[in-house]
Amino acid sequence: MGGPEPLPVASLTGGEVLGPTGRPTRVHPTPAPLYQHGPARIVALCNQKGGVGKTTTTINLGAALAEHGRRVLLVDFDPQGALSVGLGVQPGQLDRTVYDLLMDASLAVDDVLLKTAVAGMDLLPSNIDLSAAEVQLVNEVAREQTLARTLQSVVADYDVVLIDCQPSLGLLTVNALTAADGVIIPLECEYFALRGVALLMQTIDKVRERLNPQLHVDGVLATMYDGRTLHSREVLARVVEVFGDAVYDTVISRTVRFPETTVAGKPITDYAPSSPGATAYRTLALEVLAR
Ligand SMILES: Nc1ncnc2c1ncn2[C@@H]1O[C@H](COP(=O)(O)OP(=O)(O)OP(=O)(O)O)[C@@H](O)[C@H]1O
Ligand SMILES: [Mg+2]
Repeated sequence: MGGPEPLPVASLTGGEVLGPTGRPTRVHPTPAPLYQHGPARIVALCNQKGGVGKTTTTINLGAALAEHGRRVLLVDFDPQGALSVGLGVQPGQLDRTVYDLLMDASLAVDDVLLKTAVAGMDLLPSNIDLSAAEVQLVNEVAREQTLARTLQSVVADYDVVLIDCQPSLGLLTVNALTAADGVIIPLECEYFALRGVALLMQTIDKVRERLNPQLHVDGVLATMYDGRTLHSREVLARVVEVFGDAVYDTVISRTVRFPETTVAGKPITDYAPSSPGATAYRTLALEVLAR
């Protein structure tokens, strides 16, 4: 997202500090305050493997970007509604969701939009209704562009839109990739982390070729890292070997604090503001803004 080149910590301290990725840890500059907002960069959080940290990253990266003064819109694009739940919304009690926006062109985004407890961060919530969209959209003209069209009207109001995808590569995810400028791929530091990633990359390539020429991978985020185990370190080393500089320096460690935040219905930056998990997502936000 532009910004000055980060400085390696080593050049600031005179010593070499290697991060978990094996590269020197860099300090990313605090972004300049914004005096006007938009147009938003739209980023899809995508991996068809379940439980890798897509939703956790959407909430906490979004909240950290909002702390940096960015106007953030989160789009819950998973019928499970985990993003909505994680922000304290009861999906079953919603009158209108992102599903209605996709299906009814006469609705405005404002009719569905919810403010979150985080200043500057809004939510387009979802619930199980969205599972019907996959089937219903199949018969639509330009069915892959439905979300992109929906978001067009609000791009000017936000700096970042984060789309939390469901764990599949179906039509909803293709809609998210068609609407997006970039993709962040969370990978859990576990044995099967890389399984299926080739298929995800092929899907991204196809969407770029056929639907959305500007789409590219913003970065690969290692999640649920446990530096005490050789296994976790080996998986991360392999991820860096495969994806190189695409891997964010910031690595999200495994901590029970994240499941706790879901129960609390808050981002970790609110729930445990000085925890290492909150710090990690703040650092990630700086890195995302600097890229
Ligand atoms: N860094 C972490 N450390 C420990 N637990 C985590 C971490 N990140 C996420 N979790 C927990 O792991 C579970 C899965 O995370 P999350 O829901 O973010 O993944 P997801 O990729 O969105 O899953 P799905 O594919 O089902 O949508 C949740 O219970 C979450 O609280
Ligand atoms: Mg999820």
